[in-house]
Formats: sequence, structure tokens, C-alpha cells
Amino acid sequence: MADPTTVRTDARRHHDPQIRGFASDNYAGTHPEILAALALANGGHQIAYGEDEYTGHLQCVMHSHFGPTAEAFPVFNGTGANVVSLQAMTDRWGAVICAESAHINVDEGGAPERVGGLKLLTVPTPDGKLTPELIDRQAYGWDDEHRAMPQVVSITQNTELGTVYTPGEIRAICDHAHGLGMKVHLDGARIANAAASLDVPMRTFTNTVGVDVLSFGGTKNGAIFGEAVVVLNPDAVRAMKHLRKLSMQLASKMRFVSVQLEALLAGDLWLRNARHANAMAQRLAEGVRAVDGVEILHPVQANAVFARLPREVSERLQKRFRFYFWDEAAGDVRWMCAFDTTEDDVDAFLLALKEEMAR
Ligand SMILES: Cc1ncc(COP(=O)(O)O)c(C=O)c1O
Repeated sequence: MADPTTVRTDARRHHDPQIRGFASDNYAGTHPEILAALALANGGHQIAYGEDEYTGHLQCVMHSHFGPTAEAFPVFNGTGANVVSLQAMTDRWGAVICAESAHINVDEGGAPERVGGLKLLTVPTPDGKLTPELIDRQAYGWDDEHRAMPQVVSITQNTELGTVYTPGEIRAICDHAHGLGMKVHLDGARIANAAASLDVPMRTFTNTVGVDVLSFGGTKNGAIFGEAVVVLNPDAVRAMKHLRKLSMQLASKMRFVSVQLEALLAGDLWLRNARHANAMAQRLAEGVRAVDGVEILHPVQANAVFARLPREVSERLQKRFRFYFWDEAAGDVRWMCAFDTTEDDVDAFLLALKEEMAR
């Protein structure tokens, strides 16, 4: 009988680390450089709730990316970053204009409405992107007490459909929103993928063009967990500190969130990871284009490929690789690459796709 006092470490590994799919960049593990940074931050005592050395240093690192007035508030997850940001940017009677496909509208379990108390005013978009014209469909009625008051425009970069706004497109949105007295929030759960795709610094399409508050994403780009609300325009928010705690997003051992973001941002890890994930999506898209009967639905500009193919083919393929239907009725699927997706993963998936299409 095994001695219970000598449990082998590998007995606690409950999965095969060689198996990767195309379901989500959230399925990936943690980048080894981030794990190493976490180990370095371990040991000793550090002041809790954000007064630690790591969170202090994170501010300097954020300044190097977003300028000296940027202030980062680390949080646990992307939903939390969005809910805290949007609450801080609106009055109790305020509303947020966003794309119908926005994560805040379709994938946050109603948290912006129920936790944040926010009204979302949604607009259908062909490609996940808002424009000044699309914003105008909801930007009215500021003096009408029967209507929640549009106070914020929230955009996602890159979008939930894998498309990327150009800096000029974001500038046009910011100018328009500001002209109407509204502020602009950017959900940057995949901001690194967008920067890698555009090949510009992150500030080029955020504070430089007028974005007021950013939800900065780390998790999808190699962190275990950890995002940050980055306030780019201090005049656009109120009570951020208090709202973060009130919204259950204040980590007591914050050093372990901050050091992950520092590990991503102090050097070029954020960019290396994002460039790699994007390159794997390009490789995948190129292979898919050569398969008759499979249609790519949106421009592949970041780390996601959206496709339409016979539903039964997808169902068979899902037995071999994990991925999600995006629109079950239409047979649309999303294939997503991560920082750890390999060329062999992509090639094996393409082979399986061809085999299942030929059956
Ligand atoms: C665009 C976007 N925003 C926000 C989030 C929220 O992240 P979390 O699941 O960490 O709350 C996600 C997660 O998939 C996302 O894709």
C-alpha cells in the first residue's frame, strides 16, 4: 500500500500538459517567466491591499507605456476591471453605449447591470466595431429623465470578433464621444494582441487618441490571473479606490497580481506573447483558406479565427480538438490561439479539419 506521507508531486498533475486546443486563450497555462516572477515576489512580508513594493513598481512600468499620469488599479479579472471602470465613469443615472457583441453585454453574466447598476445601450455592428455613426443610434436624450443618460462609450480592442480598430478609428470615436460630453472606456482584455497587430505602442490607440479609462488585460496573454484598471484621464473617474473594494476586486496579497503584470510589461514579454499568438492565428487562417467549404467570417487581425463550416464537421472535429461554436444556429465557430500554441498544434488541427471535411 502506498505510504500516504510520500505522495509523489506528479500525482497532483491532473492533465496532460502537451494537449492544447483552440477554445480560448484562457485555456492556456501561465508563461514560465511569470511563474518565475511570482516565485521572486514570494517570501517575507509585504504590506497588503496594494501598498507593497510590487504594486508601487507597477505604477512606474505603466507610466513607461501610458505616460506619467496613468494610474493602475490591479484587479482579479476582466469582468471586474470593466465593472469597476464603468461604475467610476458614470453617475447613478448614467448609461454606457457599446456594441451588441461587447463582452460587457453578452459574456459577463449581467455583472455591469447587476453589480455595477449600469444601463447598457447596445448597437448592432457588422464587425464588432463602433463608429461615430453607430454611436449616434444611442447617443441622444440627455435631458430626458425617462431615458438612462448616455455618459460613456465602451469599445473593445481587439474586438470580440477578432478585428482591430486603427488608432484613427479610435480617435474619431473619442472626439465624437467627448464632443457629446461622454467619456471613452476601452476593454483591453487583449490589448497586447491589438498592439502587436498594429505594430504600435499601446498608448498610440489609447491615451494618445483620447481613451479615458482602460481595462488592461494580462490573463489572456500569459498571466495566471490579473488585470488592471488603468486610469488615463484622472478627470474621467470618481472613487476608483472605493469602488474596487466595494466590487470585491481589491486583492489583499496584491503583490502577486502586480508582479505578474510587471513581468509582462517591464520587458517585451507582453509583445512576444501577443505576436506569437497572432502569428499562429495567421498560420491557421492561411491553412483554412485552402480548405474548400470552410469560410472565414471576419478579417483575422489578432489571435482569433471565426469560420463557418458544416455543423456536423465541427461536431466531429470537436471530439479531436476543443473549440466553441460562436453562433450555434449558423454553424459559426471560433478558433483561438494563445501564447503557447505551437506550429505543430496548428498543423495538426488543419490536418484534422481536412480529414473531417473529406469524410
Ligand atoms: C473582451 C473581453 N473582455 C473581458 C473579458 C473578461 O475577463 P474575465 O473572464 O477575466 O472576467 C473577456 C474574457 O474572455 C473578454 O474576452
